Amino acid sequence: MLPPHHFPPLLLSSLLLLSVPALLLLFPEFIPQSLPLKNSRQHGVNDLNLLRRAVLSPPSTSSFRQPRQPKIAFLFLTNTDLYFTPLWERFFQNNTNLFSIYIHLDPSAQLEKPLTGLFANRFVPAKPTQRASPSLIAATKRLLAAALIDDAANEYFALVSQSCIPIHSFEFVYRSVVSDQRKRSFIEILTGEPQLWDRYIARGEDVMLPEVSFEQFRIGSQFFVLSRRHAHLVIRERRLWRKFRKPCLPTMLDCCYPEEHYFPTLLSMKDPEGCSGYTLTRVNWTDTSDGHPHLYMPPEITPQLIQELRQTNDSSYSYLFARKFSRECLEPLMAIADDVIFHDQ
Ligand SMILES: *[C@@H]1O[C@H](CO)[C@@H](O)[C@H](O)[C@H]1NC(C)=O
Ligand SMILES: *[C@@H]1O[C@H](CO)[C@@H](O)[C@H](O)[C@H]1NC(C)=O
Ligand SMILES: *[C@@H]1O[C@H](CO)[C@@H](O)[C@H](O)[C@H]1NC(C)=O
Repeated sequence: MLPPHHFPPLLLSSLLLLSVPALLLLFPEFIPQSLPLKNSRQHGVNDLNLLRRAVLSPPSTSSFRQPRQPKIAFLFLTNTDLYFTPLWERFFQNNTNLFSIYIHLDPSAQLEKPLTGLFANRFVPAKPTQRASPSLIAATKRLLAAALIDDAANEYFALVSQSCIPIHSFEFVYRSVVSDQRKRSFIEILTGEPQLWDRYIARGEDVMLPEVSFEQFRIGSQFFVLSRRHAHLVIRERRLWRKFRKPCLPTMLDCCYPEEHYFPTLLSMKDPEGCSGYTLTRVNWTDTSDGHPHLYMPPEITPQLIQELRQTNDSSYSYLFARKFSRECLEPLMAIADDVIFHDQ
């Protein structure tokens, strides 16, 4: 299996990184202006160009003379149609200027009809994604880069998929994330999970050394909310990415989920205090098959389910999103949207 794309050699990247602080010193007000967003789907993106421009974007909204109202950027990572857009539109309603939307759509995906409303013209340049490959990490990096460049007010970056839904109102989600005193990222970081060793050696026994020892290797949900500071860190990072983007051994493909390891491992090595350690996205792993969690079907959609999905084992927070829901769930979800899903008690 081929890695989805190739970033340039170390020397070039070091030069690039060295030149960035110098540039910022010389031109503090320099902010890249042109947007990577396209009104149509675009393929064959130059990843280096995108990352380079993202590195130049402001690292924090607090660096502005006039403080701006922070936004949450919602990053939709999908390889199918986005079928819950009516529910998300309802979620976003009346909250203009507090959110942004970005979509990484696999080039092979078929859209039943063009995306409209808030979802129109929000595509970032995309490349193919597939399981058991680093392509989902690369796609996430593209989304983060595009969102960093596009709007300096994007302060948090919430990764979601086509089968994710919100389970609280926008106001509740916004307050929970943006008012966090420590400005943490909400990302799950676990160790000691049963399959961890097999996951670690999926590319070969010593391949991750010396950058990542087994003791440093972590696992966590692919779905997270990153702070702008951490989004920047991910975009600049190349050392671990060089390892995590190596293909897994053909015999290890059932242990190959690099997107569940790269982000938790990187952030636990660089800034564990800046991370919640838990995810805000509920998933049901009961009766899992072939690495897929439970897929909710229409008869399961009830007010009680939404209440149950919100509950965590920690009274200090509530789940804000949930997955995975089949596309047929749209209708029953819309039916309880206002009274249940967007009604926080
Ligand atoms: C948005 O605002 C309008 C007008 O105030 C109101 O009728 C509507 O219910 C609001 N929608 C949501 C989802 O809060
Ligand atoms: C999780 O999925 C199982 C079936 O796989 C189901 O029986 C159970 O009710 C689900 N739990 C929740 C909280 O939805
Ligand atoms: C809460 O903890 C119990 C026992 O450890 C576990 O079975 C359950 O899945 C946990 N629930 C959530 C929402 O994490």
